[in-house]
Amino acid sequence: MRIDIITVLPELLKSPFEASILKRAIDANLVAIHFHNLRDYTSNKYKSIDDTQFGGGAGMVMMVEPIDRCISKLKTERNYDDIIYMTPDGETLNQSIANHISTKENIIILCGHYKGVDQRVRDQFITQEISIGDYVLSGGELGAAVLCDAIIRLIPGVLGNETSALTDSFQDNLLAPPIYTKPREYKGWKVPKVLFSGNFPEIEKWREEQAYKRTKERRPDLLDE
Ligand code: ADE
Repeated sequence: MRIDIITVLPELLKSPFEASILKRAIDANLVAIHFHNLRDYTSNKYKSIDDTQFGGGAGMVMMVEPIDRCISKLKTERNYDDIIYMTPDGETLNQSIANHISTKENIIILCGHYKGVDQRVRDQFITQEISIGDYVLSGGELGAAVLCDAIIRLIPGVLGNETSALTDSFQDNLLAPPIYTKPREYKGWKVPKVLFSGNFPEIEKWREEQAYKRTKERRPDLLDE
């Protein structure tokens, strides 16, 4: 998978890709991330990428031209499955959206700033608009990092244990059950006995019950879906 990220703040986005699972995925050529600084696509000498709103109102708007130049150039180089715009008024990211995007070959992610982009960018180029939650960030970069993390870990080969993404919370609309590791007892705090019974059908049954109980208590909305 190839991800092209268009941003005015590439430095804000680099560190998540220089550590942990994301770095491993890049080093193993399972994913390639390319940053494009929007200021490199400006035609004015101040390299400005935003201007005031028509009709008046507070806040600057990202202009069409630099974004058009950047996206159009990328589109001459390869076909893109999706051109995603990170915005608080987009569709709220969830596991099912992440699963879907993780199967794509080439995507562009556009990070918004200020009030957002000129509507004509959205009308002409954007195929999907994603929010990471009902709150406003100062830019789309942190949202893009969250989206990339959620999709890259799903690419086959990225996680050490191939099955582990499938047992994550949300994969079956249930939260994950409680988990434990050694020691069996710490300061009198005990691990549920069933987990070292060796009886795998019983363990599976316990985990399903716990996942259901946890979901019912914390996220009953997931059980309605
Ligand atoms: N840009 C600003 N706020 C955002 C949000 N909640 N999700 C994605 N991009 C954003």
